[in-house]
Amino acid sequence: MKTVFVSIIIFLIMSCKFNDKEDRFTIHSDKIMEDKAFPKKAWWKEAVVYQIYPRSFKDSNGDGIGDIQGIISKLDYLDRLGVDVVWLSPHFDSPNADNGYDIRDYRKVMEEFGTMADFDQMLAGLKQRGIKLIIDLVVNHSSDEHEWFKQSMSSKDNPYRDYYIWKSGKDGKEPNNWPSFFGGSAWEQAGPDGEYYLHYFAKKQPDLNWENPKLREEVYDLMRFWLDKGVDGFRMDVIALISKQQGFKDMDSIGLQHPEFTYAYGPRLHEFLKEMNQKVLSNYDVMTVGEAFGGTPEMTMELTDERNEEIDLAFWFDVARIGRDNWYQNDWSLTEFKKLVKEQCDVNYYNWPTIFLTNHDNPRTVSKFGDDSPEFREPSAKLLAMLLLTQRGTPFLYQGDEIGMTNFPFASFDQFDDVEIKGNYAKVLASGISPETYLEELNQSGRDHARTPMQWSDEDQAGFTSGDTSWLAINPNYTRINVKDNLEDPNSIFHFYRKLLDIRQDNEGLIYGDYQDIAPEHPNIFAYTRTGAKATYLVILNMSSSQDALELNSSYTDYQLVIANQAVENKLLNNTSLKLGPWEGRLYQKNNTYHENIKN
Ligand code: NOJ
Ligand code: CA
Repeated sequence: MKTVFVSIIIFLIMSCKFNDKEDRFTIHSDKIMEDKAFPKKAWWKEAVVYQIYPRSFKDSNGDGIGDIQGIISKLDYLDRLGVDVVWLSPHFDSPNADNGYDIRDYRKVMEEFGTMADFDQMLAGLKQRGIKLIIDLVVNHSSDEHEWFKQSMSSKDNPYRDYYIWKSGKDGKEPNNWPSFFGGSAWEQAGPDGEYYLHYFAKKQPDLNWENPKLREEVYDLMRFWLDKGVDGFRMDVIALISKQQGFKDMDSIGLQHPEFTYAYGPRLHEFLKEMNQKVLSNYDVMTVGEAFGGTPEMTMELTDERNEEIDLAFWFDVARIGRDNWYQNDWSLTEFKKLVKEQCDVNYYNWPTIFLTNHDNPRTVSKFGDDSPEFREPSAKLLAMLLLTQRGTPFLYQGDEIGMTNFPFASFDQFDDVEIKGNYAKVLASGISPETYLEELNQSGRDHARTPMQWSDEDQAGFTSGDTSWLAINPNYTRINVKDNLEDPNSIFHFYRKLLDIRQDNEGLIYGDYQDIAPEHPNIFAYTRTGAKATYLVILNMSSSQDALELNSSYTDYQLVIANQAVENKLLNNTSLKLGPWEGRLYQKNNTYHENIKN
């Protein structure tokens, strides 16, 4: 009697469980389409994006500056790698105060990079290979050489005056104490009327006045210009900064340490983005990703909540910038890192995360998150590829990641090109920091690490240019770290990325599946599952340069190895005690039997 009773209870529990899973995983049921556990599908959620910094990608004419024909010559390379979307950093006409993030003409291609015909050829070449293109939209500010600004500066009565933000000084000084991110005041006096204009970045980057509806229409027009050419969306530069706090009140000493919290998420940000979406974006099938620093996760989520119809994706910098305080790099722990990753993955149903570890403003992925010593560079770069491509969120790879490019060994300040580093030099030294300390920190945190030219081969100038020099020094390690060697070696970092890209694209569970950190407290091993409709994936990454072990519970036995960055003897996971070598990473998979039951 007792046995019968127990059996009935077990049966009831099992059938509830089964129904539960059936509810979640039967894709064709209408009921499930509404199930909030399943993200809605979109091409930009499934895509892997590759960022090109054109100045440093490939030079085609020997002047030492990367250009569009250079990119065209490498389209087959991108195709071979298998990325779905290219994000091109600014390619517009610019005097290059900040390498193109200061635009003089939004409808013209930078002369050094080529012509509009080159751009069209590149776009067509990408499309032929099934690769989409998103471009940089830099509309928080323009160049001071933009025609709008020249007009605006010429007089108070000029019709373009209100395209920018002008204020009169206070007691013969700047209108308030706001600082520029690139050193000094955020105000510069200019023009015949003695007023000051606002510039959050360099003084050659005056901020546009989004309060002015005419300016907004100009922006929407230039967006349409590029969308009508067939580009597939935008990465939006510092988009959270476009709406200014109109009071223009002085900051207190805490505000001055992190001005981004005053500058970002101004009162009309959502209104402006909704208008942009309604007037422009909603008419095209495109993706948008906003650079959104300076707010809380909740504030960022409001930008990307699909119910708000603003933008699709945002870059949160907490993971990529872990431990950073401006240019200072503090120590950080893997447990903190995991918490930040989880925070991003836990966005609500209406949001979709991004995952990235670097871009053109940050040090190299392997140097910050891996170990770039000769012994561990390769395994750690491969492990970081596993991390990037098995996370829940749209991955963004940065050029050179796929061959494990490293930070540059800067030995003196004159080797830097970056306007941020140069602009802040005086202020940093005035605060009592020695040049040696600043240089040491910049060797970890500086933006130029990511900007040294791509290392294509072991020939002179790393095959980047046929000329004698390049605009920024080439990392001397190009003789051993370059694309040519990577392509020839089937076990290279490049080929590992390529395989992982294939695996991600073939396994929907790695894209849409649930994320669960299964060892959040482990100090060295990052272990998580991704649970999709058909399979569950188990990712185990030893993010340290020493051996370590992980105890798994028995539910993880019988998982099959999919890919690993080091040789693994037993392809079947049948042991709950795992020992992992330094930077060893494994991806396992187990088919969901209940799914098979449903199918039968
Ligand atoms: C963010 C860009 O990524 C960075 O490179 C640039 O300096 C600033 N925005 C200003 O446009
Ligand atoms: Ca060139």
